[in-house]
Amino acid sequence: MAFLLNSIGITEVGFDMKHDFWHERWLRNEIGFHQQEYNTHLQEFWFRLGLSPDARVFVPLCGKTLDLLWLRAQGHEVMGVEISPVAVRDFFGENDLTPRVSRHGLFERWETDGLVILCGDFFDLGVGDLRNCSGVFDRASLIALPPEMRRDYAVHLRQITPPVARTLLVAMEYPQEQMQGPPFSVREEEVRELYDQAYDIKRLYSLDILEEHARFREKGLTGLTEKVYLMGPLA
Ligand SMILES: C[S@@+](CC[C@H](N)C(=O)[O-])C[C@H]1O[C@@H](n2cnc3c(N)ncnc32)[C@H](O)[C@@H]1O
Repeated sequence: MAFLLNSIGITEVGFDMKHDFWHERWLRNEIGFHQQEYNTHLQEFWFRLGLSPDARVFVPLCGKTLDLLWLRAQGHEVMGVEISPVAVRDFFGENDLTPRVSRHGLFERWETDGLVILCGDFFDLGVGDLRNCSGVFDRASLIALPPEMRRDYAVHLRQITPPVARTLLVAMEYPQEQMQGPPFSVREEEVRELYDQAYDIKRLYSLDILEEHARFREKGLTGLTEKVYLMGPLA
């Protein structure tokens, strides 16, 4: 089903296979991906993008991540996009923020001082929505998508962000046959294949993190490597 949030709660409005999975995850609160703290890689590596504090930044497939707040605290104007109205409502509610809600094309726009979440489909964003955006933070977004959607996601992200924009990308690699995603394993070769025509890609970090993640060990993984990439305009 697809759902919309209205003043009285969640309303079923149709059927959409592609989004159904995520709507159900949010409605059932099956959100193991959500972090209760700011992302450590964001805090450690964001400065490597070299953005001015008032730069406009974009967080695709943002869920209710606290990273939106960390980016706002750096001075950035922050925009996220998220398909689940439950996630958007919870982000504002759990952080004691009072949103102004309006319609923005196909999206519902939830806004508070310097921070906007467009509630709707990432693939409906256009160039105008990300005008002047100079930084992107992708954590658990590319890797949330199955292989066939990742190419479309990367193409669309490249199309809607200005060519000068820089991205901090956090990805994971593991033997894909050992677990069904999401999160999916997205190997470095694939990251380079998806993005290296448009961006210069530097790997900033790589570490086997299986030891710290019991939930992935319990699913039978024998290795889990987290990698962080900095992507920027080609020289
Ligand atoms: C694995 S979660 C990651 C959320 C966030 N990046 C974080 O670090 O917590 C992926 C999110 O993408 C959202 N999503 C999936 N497909 C989407 C789409 N086409 N447009 C917008 N959001 C989408 C899901 O509802 C989910 O909240």
